[in-house]
Amino acid sequence: MAAMKTLPTRPLGRTGPLVPRLGLGLMGASGTYGAASSDADRSALLDEAYKRGERFWDTGKYPAASDKYGDSEDLLGKWFTANPEKREDIFLASKFGIRPAPDTPWGFTIDSTPEYCRSALDASLRRLGLPFIDLYYVHRLDKKTPIELTMRTMVGLKNAGKIKNIGLSECSAESLQRAHAVHPITAVQVEYSLFCTEIESPQRRLLEVARELGVAIVAYSPLGNGFLTGKLRSREDVSKPGDSRGFLPWLSEDNIEKNVAVVDKIAEMAKVKGITTPQLALAWLLAQGDDIFPIPGSSRVQRLEENLNSMFVSLSKEEENLLREYADGVVGDRFQSKTGYDFGDTPTLEE
Ligand SMILES: NC(=O)c1ccc[n+]([C@@H]2O[C@H](COP(=O)([O-])OP(=O)(O)OC[C@H]3O[C@@H](n4cnc5c(N)ncnc54)[C@H](OP(=O)(O)O)[C@@H]3O)[C@@H](O)[C@H]2O)c1
Repeated sequence: MAAMKTLPTRPLGRTGPLVPRLGLGLMGASGTYGAASSDADRSALLDEAYKRGERFWDTGKYPAASDKYGDSEDLLGKWFTANPEKREDIFLASKFGIRPAPDTPWGFTIDSTPEYCRSALDASLRRLGLPFIDLYYVHRLDKKTPIELTMRTMVGLKNAGKIKNIGLSECSAESLQRAHAVHPITAVQVEYSLFCTEIESPQRRLLEVARELGVAIVAYSPLGNGFLTGKLRSREDVSKPGDSRGFLPWLSEDNIEKNVAVVDKIAEMAKVKGITTPQLALAWLLAQGDDIFPIPGSSRVQRLEENLNSMFVSLSKEEENLLREYADGVVGDRFQSKTGYDFGDTPTLEE
């Protein structure tokens, strides 16, 4: 049997601990992209991740299409109950801010009020069966609650020992600056992949500001919700019950063909390099800086190893640039821009 490689680690921003450069996203394992697999299979995924040294786990309370509520935290709760001695080895991230609302267009509403922050954290800790979470993100900003109020609540929860680090997700550069002025932010979680480089844009300035402040970027959907794996080739591929990707603009009738052509070029380069398409997509992201921590999601043990091995792929500057050139051909917005809660801002605090 081949010896297991030690996973490369980096500090998570200026204030966070050492974590693997690639984390494990646990949303898909709870059924967002199709029916969730059995508890036994998902527990085996966590066992394998642990065994391989993957100790940066990302969970949350997701409005999964199948049941409007993913059970990711419940699953983790069962795993921690069965493996209490392993808890201290895991750097666990969770989030609050998305509430299920079945009668709304997207099936959820956004709430970043202090009240919801406190109650959501208590509910998460109950589900997880834990006294604290290592990194707690404001998942979305509700456009009504000044971010300073949300942050003061998070600081109170940190002082109470219920969370160890504070993060933001889908915030604007200005929101990050305002939040960081209240308390250092460890990480910003935002969509970042070959299909979505908006955080780099001079209009958004999110990557630039995060770097100025020493805040890590945790790259969510680093495989473009699965598009960058080469496995999604037609609308039929996302038509299984429970798969929420049918409405992704990248996969619309008008866009899918052009985007599949982009993925094919990436796949061709991967083939020449003797690696897989998702490995190349992840290696490209890792090459953008050692403050970038992609968190690919997979529900399958064999893909875990494949994705972890992307940390050992090297890319030349020419390859990196060529991949960017290919990605210029991507058409259609990312899904978040449709919700109106991307790169969120909040009103000024009047005191
Ligand atoms: N903060 C936020 O608002 C936010 C939003 C979305 C996601 N996230 C986080 O980011 C994580 C990842 O994002 P994501 O799940 O949306 O998208 P992703 O990681 O870009 O793609 C996941 C999809 O790719 C497939 N996949 C993964 N590795 C593969 C491989 N090696 N070969 C073939 N297929 C592969 C998975 O299928 P299988 O399961 O079948 O392997 C799944 O369908 C989530 O788990 C969650 O923790 C955060």
